Amino acid sequence: MSNISSSQIFTWIERYAAQIAEQKDYLTQLDAAIGDGDHGANMHRGLQAILVKKADLQNTDIGALLKGVAMTLISTVGGASGALYGTFFLQASTLAGGKTELSPREFGSLLEKGLAGIVLRGKAAVGDKTMIDALQPGIKAYKDSIESGETMEQALSKAVSAADVGLSSTTPLIARKGRASYLGERSAGHPDPGASSTVLLFRSAAETLC
Ligand SMILES: Nc1ncnc2c1ncn2[C@@H]1O[C@H](COP(=O)(O)OP(=O)(O)O)[C@@H](O)[C@H]1O
Ligand SMILES: [Mg+2]
Repeated sequence: MSNISSSQIFTWIERYAAQIAEQKDYLTQLDAAIGDGDHGANMHRGLQAILVKKADLQNTDIGALLKGVAMTLISTVGGASGALYGTFFLQASTLAGGKTELSPREFGSLLEKGLAGIVLRGKAAVGDKTMIDALQPGIKAYKDSIESGETMEQALSKAVSAADVGLSSTTPLIARKGRASYLGERSAGHPDPGASSTVLLFRSAAETLC
């Protein structure tokens, strides 16, 4: 199975930026229902700031690229999602120092390391109605598929589906973390904005990494 190159990783982020730009108003609408209505704008600002650094980020190894992505998100996104997505990419970067390509299995380890960082930082678990509800099952589906010998294309397609199911599962939940938790029972009946932006992260990976 072919490896993932650093230029593919940048293309992934670029595609994510495009999808966030496209879904910005929708994400903001989701956040308006159970938060403060800035998730789309927050993510869009962060990803556009990454695109501005394209020339620098494209000419580095995957560790430095992901670290650049992380630091830009942390410094420009604001809101909980900036710190959390930033932590995801920062933790992932620690496994990619000096590497210019990753095997599908290594990519899975990076995703897991990133998830562990978000959990450590945000203290949320599956069922708390956060991005974790899409991220955790998406990563599990990816890893299980790669472990069973399937292709990158199959693994990422399963990850998208699992993340999507995870996103839908957030709708009836009462939020236990983040701003939405202030609403208590009134948070039920709406999908989580961060879980929605996480589905796009997998979708853009499926479109660019295989
Ligand atoms: N503790 C947490 N752990 C994981 N994800 C979280 C946590 N708190 C909030 N989130 C995610 O962040 C999203 C909100 O992001 P955003 O609106 O950009 O930030 P803020 O809530 O500060 O306005 C939520 O939909 C949720 O998915
Ligand atoms: Mg918000």
